[in-house]
Amino acid sequence: MTNNNMYFIANWKMFGKLSSINSINKVIKLSKSNEFSKTKIIYCPPYTLLKDFVQKTKKTKISIGAQDCHYENNYGPFTGSINAKQIKNTGANYTIVGHSEKRSAGDTNIIVNKKVICSLREKLNVILCIGETLKEKQKGMTTKIINKQLEICLKNIKDLKKVIIAYEPVWSIGTGKVLKVEDLNVILKKIKIFLKKKYKIKNPKVLYGGSVNSKNILILNKANEINGFLIGSASQKENIFVDILKKSIN
Ligand code: PGA
Repeated sequence: MTNNNMYFIANWKMFGKLSSINSINKVIKLSKSNEFSKTKIIYCPPYTLLKDFVQKTKKTKISIGAQDCHYENNYGPFTGSINAKQIKNTGANYTIVGHSEKRSAGDTNIIVNKKVICSLREKLNVILCIGETLKEKQKGMTTKIINKQLEICLKNIKDLKKVIIAYEPVWSIGTGKVLKVEDLNVILKKIKIFLKKKYKIKNPKVLYGGSVNSKNILILNKANEINGFLIGSASQKENIFVDILKKSIN
């Protein structure tokens, strides 16, 4: 894959303070170069920094997203939560939903489905994370699990134009382990076939996430079906993220 139209989503998780905003300067500069004119770079900082990131990237093509949203769209007594309306109100345009770190804290496929609906209602683009655990992989259940996640998380959603799928095997997140590129390609293809058949969309966007770094990007990027990457820890270190972006250009 060349990186034309590729997505690079930086998931900062629970990292970053106000001064961290200066650590995206090199990425901003890179995003303005011709080589990256079609590359979609999206920063997902913690909620506390959303507005600052929106401000900082105002005159650039970089987009900003949240890492989650509440499953209710109305304002209400949900201490500690943020809804899609509030995210949109910061100027962000994306939200991640269904991340395995939220699923392991209680988000079921049904809850994730509500979050997708709320986000789309607020005209946010959705990055829907799916992926199997190590146990499920060992039992040969990968396809069954991801099909079920897609089926339930996307229930009653008619227009998938604003939905991007991020395939993130749970056993790969933060572990340094990644799939063989051939295996990755097979799974990406299966996800696309499922989406094309069920939702009749022509060009589904499917990304990979889990331990992406400046070394394995060269190999992972060889997967023909890949449309981009969701990157956690490596996206928080500016030089590494820049390296990943540069290496993704063939
Ligand atoms: P990682 O995280 O790149 O640090 O493995 C990916 C993610 O959780 O989205």
